[in-house]
Amino acid sequence: MNQIHFEGPRRQDLFDAALRVLTAADFEDPPWLARHLLSRCLGITRAALQMDLQQEVPAGDQQRFADWVQRFAAGEPLAYLEGSCGFYGREFQVDARVLVPRADSECLIEAALEHLPHDRELRIADVGVGSGCLLLTLLAELPQALGTGVDLSPDALQVTAQNRDALQLSDRCELLQGSWLGPLVGEQTFDVVISNPPYIEPGEELGPGVAEYEPPMALFTEPGAALEPYSAILKQAQDLLKPGGWLIFEVGAGRDEAVKQAGMAAGFHWLETRKDLGGVPRAVVLRQVQA
Ligand SMILES: C[S@@+](CC[C@H](N)C(=O)[O-])C[C@H]1O[C@@H](n2cnc3c(N)ncnc32)[C@H](O)[C@@H]1O
Repeated sequence: MNQIHFEGPRRQDLFDAALRVLTAADFEDPPWLARHLLSRCLGITRAALQMDLQQEVPAGDQQRFADWVQRFAAGEPLAYLEGSCGFYGREFQVDARVLVPRADSECLIEAALEHLPHDRELRIADVGVGSGCLLLTLLAELPQALGTGVDLSPDALQVTAQNRDALQLSDRCELLQGSWLGPLVGEQTFDVVISNPPYIEPGEELGPGVAEYEPPMALFTEPGAALEPYSAILKQAQDLLKPGGWLIFEVGAGRDEAVKQAGMAAGFHWLETRKDLGGVPRAVVLRQVQA
């Protein structure tokens, strides 16, 4: 680990030191990253930072910045350093208890908002709710909807609850601990099930820092079992969804066709597979047969 040393207390000194560490750690575009980290850490825009690089930085902020640069250089996601992450125009509090919301997952929201009716009450279940980015975004976008978030991890559910309260959605969102749709099976009253389940097999290649910092329960399945969460959810969703209800899955790269086929084999209609920002098929939209 590269230790960080500031030559002085000015913003310029902090920038220079970060630049040295990020360059040594072989990041792409260290000047952009150093400026970005420093502006986020000081809570100012990059333009404001640039305009006054001679300003002195208080000792507490210097210490926090040194900590950020070293953790970032070691691969920790920026969202964990900042404690929050933007998703579909809203801020979600995040830490190591939950997966960092991915911009690619926003295509599930786009698909949901296109397929779902906006003019009536909908009951939505999110399986593996994590930070709550999917469920809480849908509740915020669909003011008549009611939500239930399920997660196996009680730690993750604490973060979901913080976000639910911060977004003032407590009166429309309940949270339950349990496996997949287990806590809900038998109710047969849901209009929508949405899920971004863990779908990475041990050994698959991941971006820097992901396996080291993000919760294993949010990422990994057993070896050879990347489709098992989908099979489990499909089976339970058949009983849980109303006739004509929607089932929206996020899928790993290259798994869209397998999930679509599994959905059709379970008796669902396939409506759409939607690509993410990188052009990778990411959201599979299914529908329960109408009565
Ligand atoms: C890929 S993360 C998705 C988090 C969030 N929905 C998102 O899209 O960013 C998967 C989530 O599923 C949860 N999980 C893992 N196994 C589960 C299970 N058997 N039942 C319910 N949730 C589970 C994890 O704790 C994690 O929060």
